[in-house]
This record gives sequence, structure tokens and C-alpha cells, in this order.
Amino acid sequence: MLLELKGLSKAFGSIVVAENINLGIDEGAAVGIIGPNGAGKSSLFNLITGELSPDSGSIHLDGHDITSSPPPARCNAGIGRSYQIPHPFETLTVFENLLVGAVYGNGLTEAQATERCGDILERTGLLEKANRVAGSLSLLERKRLEMARALATEPRILLLDEIAGGLTEHECEELVTAISDIHRSGVTVVWIEHVVHALLAAVHHLFVLNFGSIIAEGDPHTVMNSRDVQEIYMGMSD
Ligand SMILES: Nc1ncnc2c1ncn2[C@@H]1O[C@H](COP(=O)(O)OP(=O)(O)O)[C@@H](O)[C@H]1O
Ligand SMILES: [Mg+2]
Repeated sequence: MLLELKGLSKAFGSIVVAENINLGIDEGAAVGIIGPNGAGKSSLFNLITGELSPDSGSIHLDGHDITSSPPPARCNAGIGRSYQIPHPFETLTVFENLLVGAVYGNGLTEAQATERCGDILERTGLLEKANRVAGSLSLLERKRLEMARALATEPRILLLDEIAGGLTEHECEELVTAISDIHRSGVTVVWIEHVVHALLAAVHHLFVLNFGSIIAEGDPHTVMNSRDVQEIYMGMSD
């Protein structure tokens, strides 16, 4: 198992964002996470990357306990992520943004990083924007850059947080293709997404989070059609 969460719990005062979460993700998997706003989805990613510390429980990457590792060490160990709200280095170019990830997140030399970043720009559809300042990008381009920056760290597991929101149908399809290609290249993908039809086109296992607990998991279509999920879904914003 590549990533394993054991009895993970976290609360902010009375707000419980994770309640005894047990979850395993196999190497090579493509899994989705859905749940209402405030369910604790982004917090779960923050716990996995080390931006948040759990109150109890543990996190294991490839069998190693990383619960007390700082975020840079987890990044170097192969955990890459995108943020729900993109925050690139606004005054750097797209290419320079990737270089930062490749050099500091992946320990590459500048020459190695340059080659790798060129490849990622192509895979994420950003080649023509390489020399644009990140602050001038459109929403789709910023989302692509989020994904590209995470890829520059050469992750074994890529955590994507609501990357399809606000895009047109066509842009969404392009994104699904890019994510599926990344998965096919051997990267394990964990994708939080409100745009469910996009998610279902790319993942083969689905977790549903509500009030910090996993309330359903399994085959995506079976899970989506289950009564519990249908009920929760009535209140979701998709
Ligand atoms: N650092 C924090 N301090 C206090 N409350 C937080 C913090 N981060 C998230 N929360 C709260 O925890 C809940 C879950 O947030 P989040 O994980 O962002 O949910 P989701 O991504 O599922 O919408 C929300 O009510 C949010 O306001
Ligand atoms: Mg969120």
C-alpha cells in the first residue's frame, strides 16, 4: 500500500475535520474524494502533506510512518499536491514556477530541472505559456499550473484539490485527459472534486467524506447511486 491513514483524527475546537479516518491507497490507483463543503476534504490533504498535524492517528507512506515529518520531507518522499485556491509565485514566469518545484521539491540540478519542466509544460498544455508571468494567467491556466507545479516535484502520489471548478465543459474534458495521462504514466492520483462527472471519468474508486468521516467507499458508480450519498448530494453545490 502506498499511502495509509490509520485512525486519523483532527478537530478545530468543536469543528471535527477528521474522525478516526482509516484509508488505504494502493500504488497506481486513481481515487476520488467527494463530500459537502466543510466536510474536511482539504483538511485531509493538509494532514497528508503535513501542513496540519493530527490530534491522533498516523500516516504511512510506503510503510514508513511519516506522521511527524515536516511538509518538505513529505514532498521529497513523493507526495505532491495542488491547492484549491491556486497560489503560484505571481511575479515568476510559468517556467520559473515549475523550476522552483523541480529544484527545491525534487532536488534536481538546474539542467535536469530544465529538461523535466519542459516535459511537464507539454503534458499539462502550458508550453505556449512558458514565459508568461503567472499572475497574468486565466483560471484554466492557473489550474494547469497548479498541477504542473505539483508534477515538477516528481510525485509518486498526486493530490488534486478541486481543480475542475469554474471551467467550461471543454476545459474540463481537457483536464480529465491530462490527469488520466499523468495516472497512466505511473503516478497514483487522489482527486477531490465537486464536478462529479469529470471525477468519474478519471477515477476507479471513490470515497465520500461527511463531517470528517468516510461514510461510503467503493466503485464510483455504485457509491454515487447509494441512498446515503444521494441524500447528502441533494445539499451539495454541484
Ligand atoms: N486552520 C483552520 N482553523 C479552523 N478551522 C478550520 C481550519 N481549516 C479548516 N477549518 C474548518 O474546518 C472545516 C472543514 O474545512 P475543509 O477541510 O476546508 O473542508 P472542505 O475542503 O471539505 O470544504 C470547515 O468548517 C473549515 O472552516
Ligand atoms: Mg476544500
